Amino acid sequence: MEDFTSIGADLPDPFRLLIRDTVHSTNDEVRMLAEAGAPDGLIILAHQQLAGRGRRGAAWFAPAGESLAFSILVRPQESKAFWPRLALSAGLAVAEAVEDFVALTGIKWPNDVWLNGKKLAGILVEAGKDFAVVGIGVNINTTVFPPEVADIATSLRIETGEEISRPQMLAAIIRHFARRRLQIGADFDDMLKGIRERCVLTGHQISLLTASGPRIGLMEGIAPEGELLLRDSQGLHSIMQADEIRLMD
Ligand code: BTN
Repeated sequence: MEDFTSIGADLPDPFRLLIRDTVHSTNDEVRMLAEAGAPDGLIILAHQQLAGRGRRGAAWFAPAGESLAFSILVRPQESKAFWPRLALSAGLAVAEAVEDFVALTGIKWPNDVWLNGKKLAGILVEAGKDFAVVGIGVNINTTVFPPEVADIATSLRIETGEEISRPQMLAAIIRHFARRRLQIGADFDDMLKGIRERCVLTGHQISLLTASGPRIGLMEGIAPEGELLLRDSQGLHSIMQADEIRLMD
């Protein structure tokens, strides 16, 4: 297993890295420590998750040692109204970190990171009373995915043919996240610019599931608060939260 100790010492303040061999889910580990008073910036990385989860309760596939699976404890200074921006900032940070090593990435709103039309990384943000857990999964050296995700998932290894250092990638993600999360309450426009430049949905017909039911329409872009702008026969809708977003063209 690669050695993460040396990058731990180089992370910007206030980030501190704890390594676990095997856990159920790093999001659960961080939540437990957060509830016990752990400080902002704590990161738990696990070499293996027995019950890693994605959005909507889906399982997150991450074989031991092949990917990055970690969670960051954030104690936001901003009011809760701004917390959805945290999820956007994490997606952008991962995209930028991948670009430090490889090629241009795409962001599938709100924060899936795509490479060559397939999903490379996913983010699950879960809120506590006065903290948020930002869980990040990046497919690094995986070569075989299970059949149910094989058509939609990819890894850096598959796309580049190279072994990428997991510790170096983690350090790059934290570096970018340290900068981007400061833009949640100030300079959010600059964060949005980075997301808009990479958004793979803009200009396409998409289908998605919202709280008020399924919708189909043209994704026109991202609104000033970070919402998805969808045009359908009834007009333009600003959507803050959606699942199962799919490209239709
Ligand atoms: C998604 O795209 O559905 C989100 C995937 C999030 C996976 C990461 S891996 C580290 C952290 N721990 C979890 O159980 N999930 C997140």
